[in-house]
Amino acid sequence: AAAPANQTAGFIDCLVVSLPPGVVYTHASRSYQSVLESSIKNLLFDTPATPTPVAIVEATDASHVQAAVRCGVRHGVPIRSRSGGHDYEGLSYRSLEAASAFAVVDLAGALREVRVNVRRQTAWVGCGATLGEVYYAIANKSARLGFPGSVGPTVGVGGFLSGGGFGLMLRKHGLASDLILDATIVDAKGRLLDRAAMDEDLFWAIRGGGGGNFGIVLSWKLHLVPVPATVTVFTVHRSRNQSATDLLTKWQRVAPSLPNDIFLRVVVQNQNAQFESLYLGTRAGLVAAMAASFPELGVTASDCIEMTWIQSVLYFAFYGTGKPLEMLLDRGTGRPDRYFKAKSDCVQEPMPSLVWESTWSWFLKDGAGLLILDPYGGEMARVAPAETPFPHRQELYNIQYYGFWSESGTAAAEKHMGWIRGLYREMEPYVSKNPRGAYVNYRDLDLGVNDDGDGAGAASYEKARVWGEAYFKGNFERLAAVKAKVDPDNFFKNEQSIPPLPT
Ligand code: FDA
Repeated sequence: AAAPANQTAGFIDCLVVSLPPGVVYTHASRSYQSVLESSIKNLLFDTPATPTPVAIVEATDASHVQAAVRCGVRHGVPIRSRSGGHDYEGLSYRSLEAASAFAVVDLAGALREVRVNVRRQTAWVGCGATLGEVYYAIANKSARLGFPGSVGPTVGVGGFLSGGGFGLMLRKHGLASDLILDATIVDAKGRLLDRAAMDEDLFWAIRGGGGGNFGIVLSWKLHLVPVPATVTVFTVHRSRNQSATDLLTKWQRVAPSLPNDIFLRVVVQNQNAQFESLYLGTRAGLVAAMAASFPELGVTASDCIEMTWIQSVLYFAFYGTGKPLEMLLDRGTGRPDRYFKAKSDCVQEPMPSLVWESTWSWFLKDGAGLLILDPYGGEMARVAPAETPFPHRQELYNIQYYGFWSESGTAAAEKHMGWIRGLYREMEPYVSKNPRGAYVNYRDLDLGVNDDGDGAGAASYEKARVWGEAYFKGNFERLAAVKAKVDPDNFFKNEQSIPPLPT
């Protein structure tokens, strides 16, 4: 239920007396709007009608996060955490209902230290850091260590690792969250816990069970992975009339079963399939492997570029070579340049070529977006689906449907969202079923939202199962059981947070 106005006022008073000056921003603060917008990535949620937090706490110390949680609990004002602000539905800084007061603890201001220990191959990373900052810090210490993070460098490690997190080394090293060794978290009682102090079930849940559910993670200890001195990349385009349909059909079987050192994804847009590859080895090795497994793609030595691993991060982030390392430090704090909407699917069986052939017509429509196909297999498939909350380990690949536009207004939004939802509907017979799977880091409120109430009852749980099992399959019930144990009053909640398992 919404916190009444006097509760909100009491909450803000509590923040003001508990926290030092310059940390709390309310609607009355001159810089409230710029702090709020500092990591909004989707223009859809940067409008005067968007329900915004009653207060933003720009924490510079763990004790600020603890104090904010205690004030929230005392005055009945729920708190959302924001690290990089990339949530596809903006749930880290906006709510759907104007009536429900909430506050934001923002970690991006100061809780973003990255401490790399080369000898131990570990790093302690503050959740306000971006993946770009993590890559940069690693590269500054060692050319032979890396981390399998996101393709986009501005993504925050707080949300990314909470939801699993995958990128171009997932076939070699699995999900980013598979490499979490320890964490510090502020729980619903305002306690600061590390792995030794927290319930082992909670440590299981925060490694992929989705951001915003169990507490506010302040930092992660990560295992860094070895990278070779030379990696190789290519990007080749094949158009519809250059047999892209046949290539896509074959790719579905080949990409998940290539040697683990090869990642080969596809971006489908317009009448083209763009094949992008990162190989953890030299050009000769990649050319030979492609000739053996996927000769139809016709990859030649001249398509392949050798570079260091960190250069490959820049190559895929900014599409090109010779970009300066410092580009990884740009958090992109300006106003976003696009509206976007995404959806996701898991694919268990290769789709027939007829399906791909008929899909091309979708890319001729006004409002067309793109598809990103990320293959699994390799290390992803080695881990049992219940070992971490991410359950889609055994599937062939993930589809991301992505629509983006820059024109304002509802007509443009409806056109682009209509495209995405239409293609998603059309794909239903060919993707995973019962439940139709989805990736929690590609948050999609079309799958369902929580009740308006406190979300703690049996009805709420049943309703949440619809989207919860799409994201987590059989792991959803265990996540709800962990929630009942660590946050039974459902303090950490949003429109798609995990409700406590009813007793
Ligand atoms: P944000 O701060 O919005 O948080 C997301 C969710 O986690 C919210 O519910 C929030 O409350 C919660 N949360 C945030 N910080 C938390 C904390 N410290 N403790 C607990 N909960 C916390 N994904 C992927 O797997 N691979 C990829 O390559 C990419 N690339 C990519 C590019 C771009 C441009 C975007 C917009 C998104 C991606 N993503 C992605 C998706 C991304 O992983 C997902 O949006 C993450 O949740 C973003 O984490 P942020 O911290 O940036 O978001």
